[in-house]
Amino acid sequence: MNELEDLVQSARSAFGRSATAADLENAKALYFGKAGRVTELMKGMAALSVEEKKTRGAAINATKQAIEAALNERRQALADAELQAQLKAESLDVTLPGRQHAAGGLHPVSLTLERIEGIFGSMGFEVADGPEIETDWFNFTALNTPADHPARSMHDTFYVEGGHLLRTHTSPMQIRHAVQHVKRHRFALDAGQGMPEIRVIAPGRTYRVDSDATHSPMFHQCEGLWIGEDISFKDLKVVFTDFCRTFFENDDLVLRFRPSFFPFTEPSAEIDIQFPSGPLAGRWLEVAGSGQVHPNVVRHMGLDTERFIGFAFGMGPDRLTMLRYGVNDLRLFFDGDIRFLSQFR
Ligand code: FA5
Ligand code: MG
Repeated sequence: MNELEDLVQSARSAFGRSATAADLENAKALYFGKAGRVTELMKGMAALSVEEKKTRGAAINATKQAIEAALNERRQALADAELQAQLKAESLDVTLPGRQHAAGGLHPVSLTLERIEGIFGSMGFEVADGPEIETDWFNFTALNTPADHPARSMHDTFYVEGGHLLRTHTSPMQIRHAVQHVKRHRFALDAGQGMPEIRVIAPGRTYRVDSDATHSPMFHQCEGLWIGEDISFKDLKVVFTDFCRTFFENDDLVLRFRPSFFPFTEPSAEIDIQFPSGPLAGRWLEVAGSGQVHPNVVRHMGLDTERFIGFAFGMGPDRLTMLRYGVNDLRLFFDGDIRFLSQFR
């Protein structure tokens, strides 16, 4: 190997050892700088004779070109490596799990209330809303439950200042809604004409001093009221049976109207349901109180008791939710445990 080949070889390895562009520039200076080895060779050419220039000069030129080629090759390699490193650093790792945006969902009881509103809506019922802090008048007295009535003891509640109380049922909405309805049709009624029937449901929160697996101190009820000139107990049975079978999507569901007492209805019945099959088969479960609206209540609505009659019911959407989803403790709905609640989304 001659001295020129050695030079090319040493340049290649010097460039190869350069790990960065800056190193490579330093290595380049060793060959092409002012006192660089290639520069020296070129300078030396001046002293050659014409004959020598032909052979020796050509060899030196070839050496210079070979070293330049090695330099460019290494430059390109370092640039490629740098680009790769940069791409890698900036790359998007699509295998990383995405940022989770927790999707909210409706509370299971809200889902039940929506379902109730949908079903009764399809039967022509309006939906009314009323206050949870009630007066004694609407919660009890107007509902034929005067101050000394023993039925009040089953509705112990939370009393707030100013003689108000947290409503123990949604039944006060019977009076509130009917009074508004009657007011709107007062002229026609006074003129002896009729009025559109009152057909309404009123869902909402209710409160009692109660707590066990099927009772919560805060719970929900949904009142139903249908008042007209010939609305009977038979209509109650048809409407409520239809509702339950649609709600549970089970046409074989059996209903029982068990005689009971409420001061604001006469006759009165508790409504029990029974599933023909499934885990709850065979058991009777109370879902509502109901009855024909008592004449004293019809009077407090501002209506002629000789002319207007109808039925009312008050059901427990929390119990319906338990039955629908097979939950055995009603209080779970109100503990606010997201692991429980998110199962119903
Ligand atoms: C009443 O509250 C009557 N106002 C119902 C009524 C309306 C009768 C219209 C006649 C005419 P009762 O106390 O039985 O009735 O309650 C009705 C339903 O509410 C019960 O069947 C039950 O499903 C639900 N309920 C009652 N107390 C609780 C409670 N503490 N927790 C959960 N659900 C309850
Ligand atoms: Mg009851």
